[in-house]
Amino acid sequence: MRQKDIIILGIESSCDDTSAAILKNSTILSNLIARQEIHENYGGVVPELASRAHQQNIIPVVDAAIRKAGITKNDIDAIAFTRGPGLMGSLVVGTSFSKAFSLAMNIPMIDVNHMVGHVLAHFIDDDGKEKPKFPFLCLTVSGGHTQIVLVEDYLKMSVIGTTIDDAAGEAFDKAAKMLGFPYPGGPLVDKHAKNGNPLKFEFSKPNIPNYDYSFSGLKTSILYFLQKQLKLNEHFIAENLDDLCASIQKTIIDILMKKLLKASQELNISEIAIAGGVSANSGLRDALTKLSSEKKWNVYFPKFEYCTDNAAMIAITGKYMFEKGIFADHSITATARYSISEFNL
Ligand code: KG4
Ligand code: ZN
Repeated sequence: MRQKDIIILGIESSCDDTSAAILKNSTILSNLIARQEIHENYGGVVPELASRAHQQNIIPVVDAAIRKAGITKNDIDAIAFTRGPGLMGSLVVGTSFSKAFSLAMNIPMIDVNHMVGHVLAHFIDDDGKEKPKFPFLCLTVSGGHTQIVLVEDYLKMSVIGTTIDDAAGEAFDKAAKMLGFPYPGGPLVDKHAKNGNPLKFEFSKPNIPNYDYSFSGLKTSILYFLQKQLKLNEHFIAENLDDLCASIQKTIIDILMKKLLKASQELNISEIAIAGGVSANSGLRDALTKLSSEKKWNVYFPKFEYCTDNAAMIAITGKYMFEKGIFADHSITATARYSISEFNL
């Protein structure tokens, strides 16, 4: 007998994007994101403004996601939402909305860890795209996190390496800010790097143990370098923009790849995935593709719309929890710090 379809409404509001998605089994019917452009003027996300914008956007976004999916709210079996990690004021909006929706529709609610969501985005059905096989390593690189995750099963994963200071996306965004780009500048660095020489300038790389990362030294090294050059030529940045972007991007990618290689070799795992906003970076994708043929890795890239924060990844995680009957009760609270190890189910 054919099993009943499972329809999940996913909600993501951990940072500055309000997103709602409708998932049917493992297929996404809609995945809408209301971006908050207001932060561009401030060079970073302003938490107070983010939570206000979530409050404004959440109902219209959910409404549009339901309509785009061609379903009605009565078809939804459960609501999955990001419990954390993220900005408290932003998380509270998604959490409270989910409680209200769950009570009003009399359906269960499922509390999802945002970082697990980034990893499980790989399991969204996408035109026959291959999915990673367990165990695999996932390099999750975003604006707030940089992690190497050992993934043993859908809901069984552990962080084996992490950043001790800035995240990779933060390194991109801070470097971009020094070059005069608006926030978030990562995608602009990527764009300019395509026309630049990655070997033109050299920046310092960290030397720290295990599978951990550090990006604060790089930030300082770029700052001092630019200050020195600008004293000699005030047009230095404008005249070298593409080469600066390419060289900075190469340094960040080299740092990321070094530890990923080490983990792959030492754990003898050649199934390698990337996730998170920075996994949209074309240089990172090229570097991984190159390594995949050199090292005989099977590499997995998420579709672009599932790289940066989105509710589709929350909905697919919700589906695996729904199948196991793991639900939250209505006293659940958002949590700004929420490690993957606390989430293992
Ligand atoms: O996963 P995400 O949407 O949000 C967080 O959970 O942080 O990641 C956002 C980060 C930002 O730092 C942004 O600059 C970076 O991802 N990003 C990129 C690219 N696209 C997004 N960085 C480099 N190259 C890109 N193409
Ligand atoms: Zn994220």
